[in-house]
This record gives sequence, structure tokens and C-alpha cells, in this order.
Amino acid sequence: MKKTIALVTGGYSGESVISYKTAATIQQHIDSSKWNHYLIDIHPSGWFHSLASGEKITVDKNDFSITIDGNKILFDAVLIALHGTPGEDGKLQGYLDCLQIPYSSCDTATSALTFNKRYTVAVAAFAGLHVAKSMHLFNDTIVTPEEIAATLTLPVFVKPNNGGSSIGMSRVNEPAGLQLALDKAFKEDSQVLVEEFISGREFTIGVFKSKGNIIPLPITEVISKKEFFDYEAKYEGASQEITPAQVEESIANQVRAAAAKAYSVFNCRGVVRIDFIYNEAKAQPYMLEINTVPGQSAASIVPQQVRAMGWSLQEFYSALIEDCFNR
Ligand SMILES: Nc1ncnc2c1ncn2[C@@H]1O[C@H](COP(=O)(O)OP(=O)(O)O)[C@@H](O)[C@H]1O
Ligand SMILES: [Mg+2]
Repeated sequence: MKKTIALVTGGYSGESVISYKTAATIQQHIDSSKWNHYLIDIHPSGWFHSLASGEKITVDKNDFSITIDGNKILFDAVLIALHGTPGEDGKLQGYLDCLQIPYSSCDTATSALTFNKRYTVAVAAFAGLHVAKSMHLFNDTIVTPEEIAATLTLPVFVKPNNGGSSIGMSRVNEPAGLQLALDKAFKEDSQVLVEEFISGREFTIGVFKSKGNIIPLPITEVISKKEFFDYEAKYEGASQEITPAQVEESIANQVRAAAAKAYSVFNCRGVVRIDFIYNEAKAQPYMLEINTVPGQSAASIVPQQVRAMGWSLQEFYSALIEDCFNR
């Protein structure tokens, strides 16, 4: 019998705009000969499935079901196309764990951990991966620009610790610029990460698991026309993404190995995308962050990488769904 999948999208943050685009790509490529699927919108005003007529069916949160014309539909698995909270930070994962419904993403602990950039690099460093030196600031504990300048070597990146999409992030070259950058980041989050700048080429790489194997996708090099890969560079075309990256095989191997190691150390599931800067002087990739629900709009990096691997998106999403049942 065909299994029934809930494709979950939306979310409570500004990233919902991207979530809807990710869900549109998946819907376009999901193999309907293999899976029945229903789109579920996790919206601040409620959790809904919309019928073709426009009628909104409210999800019964007791068992994550919907009832259409008196027929109750329960889901065999959930495919998560939701960036930001609550689909990427472990909250939805915890709820689905309580209901024993399998899902396509990392588990609750890994999702919550990797949503926190500082905790992510701390665990990565513990596992021997290279990361930038950094300070973790909280809004109720005052740390002065002087203390930061005495602890870290400028330039630094000042980022909201839990944010995404580069909102509230600044690069600071001079101590005089620190306070403004801190104020900007604290507007977005109660925790801020101040990280030393790593110079080098930027690579980002999708990794997924299928039939027990960790599979790194082809690497993408990100070349930003702006000072860094900020929101405008990411979503408004001010960056160039080259897939597969034109890079020496030895460097590509290092990036792939670091990505596969991170996937394994963090006990990831489904497709994640890991950002790195390759520093020539140290001849090492430095891990910046792990995105556990990476963007998958038509123009996004992961779909580009899947195509570069020679897979169709249909095969890829079937592999991700099948993996939900192998846990
Ligand atoms: N420590 C760093 N050194 C050099 N570049 C960085 C550093 N941190 C962030 N960046 C730049 O800023 C971009 C966004 O940072 P990232 O930590 O990946 O946050 P986001 O969640 O916004 O993607 C990166 O893609 C990279 O271009
Ligand atoms: Mg990033």
C-alpha cells in the first residue's frame, strides 16, 4: 500500500517565505506513484491543510491528523520543508517523537543543538574539526567592545546566535565598529556569537544518508560580490554559486571528509548543508555552521548539487522519504 506523507511547511519566523519555496520544489518532484502526500502549513494562526476549493482543514494536534469529508488521514512520515522555528530547531521533531511519527530531518537533540551556532562549533571542535575562535555573548551579561578586542583578533563576524539568512550579521574590521554590530545582532536574538574572520574560499556542501550510507553531494563554491554572503547576496542574486566547485581534488576531499565527519558526529539524518571556509595558510576547511533543513527553492544550492550528482530530484526525495522508515 502507498504510504501517506505530510509535507510540512511555513513556520513562525521570517524564513517561512523560503519554506514555501522549498515545499513547492518538493511537491513538484515528489513521486506520486510511490507516495500520497498532503501539504501542511504550520502557520502562526494555526496548522492547516488547504483543499483545492480553498477550504482550510485544521490539523488535529492530538495525533497530527486531518479529516477530509469524514475520512481521517494519519501520516506514515513527515517530510520537513520548514526553515527556522519550529521545524529546524527541534520543536516539531520533539512533538513528532511524542506521537512516534517518523520524519525526514535530524532528531530533536541534533536540530536544537545545530540551531545554536556556538554550540555547533563547540561540538565540532571537540570532534577535531577546525572552527573559528569565538565568544558567546548573552544579553543579560555585559561584555565590552574592549574585552572582545582583547580576546579576539579583528576582523570579526558578529552574528545572532540562533538566526538564519544572515539577518543582523555584520563584519567588523575596527574596534570602533563593535558596539553598533552588537546592538544590531542583539535586536535579532538574546545570544550573539562573535567569531574571528576566516579568510579563504567559501564552500557549502549538502550531505544526506541513504540505505545506511553517508553521501556528500558535489561541493558548491560561493563567491559573494558583497563583503560576505549576506541576505542580499543569498536571495537577491549578489553572489555566484559554482556547482561543482572548480577546486583541486585534494581540497575537495578535505571538505567532503570534514562534511561527512560532521554529519556522523552530529548524528544527522535527512539532507543537511554545511558551510565551510577553506583557509589556504592552514590548509584546512573551517566549519561555520550546519543547516539541518537547507533551502530547496528551484534556485537553491541543494537542488543544484543533487542535479550535479546525476540524480533527479524525484529520486532524491524518494530516498529521503524511504530513509524515514529505516531508523
Ligand atoms: N568566521 C567567519 N569567517 C569568514 N566568513 C564568515 C564567518 N562567519 C560567517 N561568514 C560569512 O557570512 C556568511 C553567513 O554566515 P553563517 O554563519 O553561515 O550564517 P547564516 O545562518 O546567515 O547562513 C557565510 O556564508 C560567510 O560568507
Ligand atoms: Mg550559512
